[in-house]
Amino acid sequence: MSTKATVEKLVSLCKRRGLVFQSSEIYGGIGGFWDYGPLGVELKNNIKQAWWRAVVQERDDVVGQDAAIVMNPTVWRASGHLDTFADPMVDCKECKKRFRADALVGEVAASAHGHEAAAEVTRCPECGGELTPPRMFNLMFKTYVGAVEDDASVAYLRPETAQGIFVNFANVLTATRKKLPLGIAQIGKAFRNEITPGNFIFRDREFEQMEIEYFVKPGTDEQWHQHWVEERYNWYLRLGMHKENVRVRQLDRDELAHYAKDTYEVEYLFPMGWSELEGIANRTDFDLRRHAEFSGRDLEYFDEETGEHIVPFVIEPSAGVDRLFMAFLIDAYDEEEVRGETRVILRLHKDLAPIKVAVLPLSRQEKLVPPAREVWALVRKHWMSQYDDAQSIGRRYRRQDEVGTPLCVTVDFDTLEDQAVTIRERDSMEQVRVPIAGLVAALRERLEAGD
Ligand code: GAP
Repeated sequence: MSTKATVEKLVSLCKRRGLVFQSSEIYGGIGGFWDYGPLGVELKNNIKQAWWRAVVQERDDVVGQDAAIVMNPTVWRASGHLDTFADPMVDCKECKKRFRADALVGEVAASAHGHEAAAEVTRCPECGGELTPPRMFNLMFKTYVGAVEDDASVAYLRPETAQGIFVNFANVLTATRKKLPLGIAQIGKAFRNEITPGNFIFRDREFEQMEIEYFVKPGTDEQWHQHWVEERYNWYLRLGMHKENVRVRQLDRDELAHYAKDTYEVEYLFPMGWSELEGIANRTDFDLRRHAEFSGRDLEYFDEETGEHIVPFVIEPSAGVDRLFMAFLIDAYDEEEVRGETRVILRLHKDLAPIKVAVLPLSRQEKLVPPAREVWALVRKHWMSQYDDAQSIGRRYRRQDEVGTPLCVTVDFDTLEDQAVTIRERDSMEQVRVPIAGLVAALRERLEAGD
């Protein structure tokens, strides 16, 4: 973690610069829901694109899909979510605050969605009042499908995207005619009625997941598990995360979800400590067997090599976009002294930066407007860019640094004579003069180096 980044600084930067806003803020907000502003949506899209590129586009064994958020409710009986996707909840009888009991025991039983002994803490951590005994609280959001609100029309907002993949396994296999190992990747919204959302966008009630269900022959699962742990860990480093801030941790047996044989977490050193970015689980054949049982459909795979019908095992790398968003921002955040002033910089990887190029006329003088607009027209066809002519050039550089724009292009009075502009680099602040005729190539060289 950047020692300079705090959650408070991040929240303030995110609001000020249009990265993240509290949802429905003008009405006082709503806990656990966030909106992404003009720059936030760019960063979020870039994270998703970088993931999709690495796990789908650049591989020949993973395909994509996009399933509906609301599914037949039997899915959640088969997956075990209706029975087990619950956290123990306690209320303070005095101040009426509500807590996740396992988070109070806390540190003792920090695993996600476990039923661990919660009874040990009996006093409210805020006011010292007496706590109610823990009771299980299902985290799925309930809704009704159709005009009648009765038991028969109950449905749920999905708490993970994964089940939309399991139920489509046979469809995708038939449609693609692929053989195992085969991965199916998906990015989409998930919803959990978390008892205690918090730490900005770390724990939300509405969030996005990027999940792969990677179907393999039983017996090869452990080897593929290792493959995906390495792949995913290296992805974070390739996107510029500092190695000292990212680690892989194998979960203890008592931390495992009901479906998992083994799980590793990629963790990030957030300001509140090491916390999960992504889980990489060996889900065995649990899900396919359960869906075969509950649907009555054959979800087996015919192995042509051995002539056997098998139920594939599944390795599942599952990451949360919002959490990654927060981690990439914290990791990129830096402050340095430049000529007696503090320069705030987001040293974001160029692939993640919301704006790749800013076009800045040196001043608002009329003469500079046509060439500056022409340069912008040239650039915006290729990359997300911004045109900024408000305030001094120094301030505009700082504004771009603060949101991680890797390159600024300055149009000045010499441009009128020499048809050239200045490219200024975010991290080094180095400037080079290039002819407008070669500008796109010069920017491409800098923005696409290493691709
Ligand atoms: N399909 C497996 C699954 O959903 P999980 O560990 O519950 O596993 C996977 O979630 C990832 O989704 C987490 O590593 C985290 O990045 C993200 N995630 C889970 N709950 C979240 C929440 N309430 N807010 C934001 N992200 C969350």
